[in-house]
Amino acid sequence: MRINKESMLHLTKENYTPGSRAEHGKIRHLFRAPPVLPGSPHTYSKRPMSEKFLYSLARPLLFSMDAEAAHHLTLPALKRASALGLTKLAGKPALDPRTVMGITFPNPVGLAAGLDKDGAYIDALADLGFGSIEVGTVTPRAQAGNPKPRMFRLPQAQGIINRMGFNNGGVDAFVANVQASKFYQNRAGVLGLNIGKNADTPIERAADDYLLCLEKVYPYASYVTVNISSPNTKNLRQLQGASELDALLSQLKEAQARLADKHKRYVPLALKIAPDMDGEQVKSIAESLTRHRIDGVIATNTTLSRSAVEGMPHGAEAGGLSGAPVFELSNNVIRLLKAELGDALPIIGVGGIMQGKDALAKFEAGAQLVQLYSGLIYAGPALIKDCARALRGTR
Ligand SMILES: Cc1cc2nc3c(=O)[nH]c(=O)nc-3n(C[C@H](O)[C@H](O)[C@H](O)COP(=O)(O)O)c2cc1C
Repeated sequence: MRINKESMLHLTKENYTPGSRAEHGKIRHLFRAPPVLPGSPHTYSKRPMSEKFLYSLARPLLFSMDAEAAHHLTLPALKRASALGLTKLAGKPALDPRTVMGITFPNPVGLAAGLDKDGAYIDALADLGFGSIEVGTVTPRAQAGNPKPRMFRLPQAQGIINRMGFNNGGVDAFVANVQASKFYQNRAGVLGLNIGKNADTPIERAADDYLLCLEKVYPYASYVTVNISSPNTKNLRQLQGASELDALLSQLKEAQARLADKHKRYVPLALKIAPDMDGEQVKSIAESLTRHRIDGVIATNTTLSRSAVEGMPHGAEAGGLSGAPVFELSNNVIRLLKAELGDALPIIGVGGIMQGKDALAKFEAGAQLVQLYSGLIYAGPALIKDCARALRGTR
């Protein structure tokens, strides 16, 4: 089959062979600059192809592939497009600064953790116009994560189930990637570094892993996220329990004070929590957060609930469910948190933002910033501007 922009609209599982290098080469050409004739009215600067249009071309091909394979194709393609200056052509959302956790975010729409676990694509992702980029989760030592396949799309529900299991190259490689990024070198924007624990560290020793990661990433972060809510690392969510959380947060706050002194810079700490909690559990977490003067809370991670996807293809896969099915669950947690916290500390809302009005709903629930992941897979990067537009005028 000859692949061009027209035929890509008709690509299906039946007429596409996943993984073929030749096919991958063909999708790459979409991200390459076409020749621009001198004096032509159709130069890139004057008539940029819309992001929505480009994504509508790429999506059928990406969706015909295994979800993780598509991920490994898209990020390098984005990096090449960025190196060619193409990603900048779509333009960024208008400046709409928000000061949260003492940091000024150029706009309130951030990238959620997990898309760039090793911090290897920071510059390319920054070009898309996010108000902040969160990379990780990183663990002290490199680990492979769970066996593949471990990421599944559920298009009927606009959801994703993943059980990646913190696959990453370890904190030293992560820091080297961050240091090598122009985004960090030029202090070009807000960079969140998200930390976790290795799968083979006993849960009783989890604090050691968080403390080691905090020490290493601290100098390079605008803020650090402490992820205790992935469902894919055994027992991790136990750290959300009252006594475990108290013990962890007090050690982290102590380390933060020492590191602030050492580096002469205070780096805020945010805690990332799960959506699968009742009112009592959220209340207990909110009390811990205020007691330990944590700087922010990110609500939420993926859900273990399957009620929205029962009976669907892949609906029974193990792992965390994200996208549209987690939207209301995470909004509920945000509302509960807001009721407990008031203005004591800010809430960053994440989970199931698939269109601009979903971002607004997070704000109405009590969030001061939002983050996206699954929506990018379904709607493409134009979603960033849609959300930024929807949030203009909010505070
Ligand atoms: C494939 C995948 C991997 C993820 N990995 C991480 C991770 O490493 N750390 C983390 O804090 N959250 C991770 N998340 C959770 C997202 O950051 C986000 O909290 C969640 O997906 C809900 O937002 P969404 O519906 O916009 O995707 C991951 C999500 C997906 C889909």
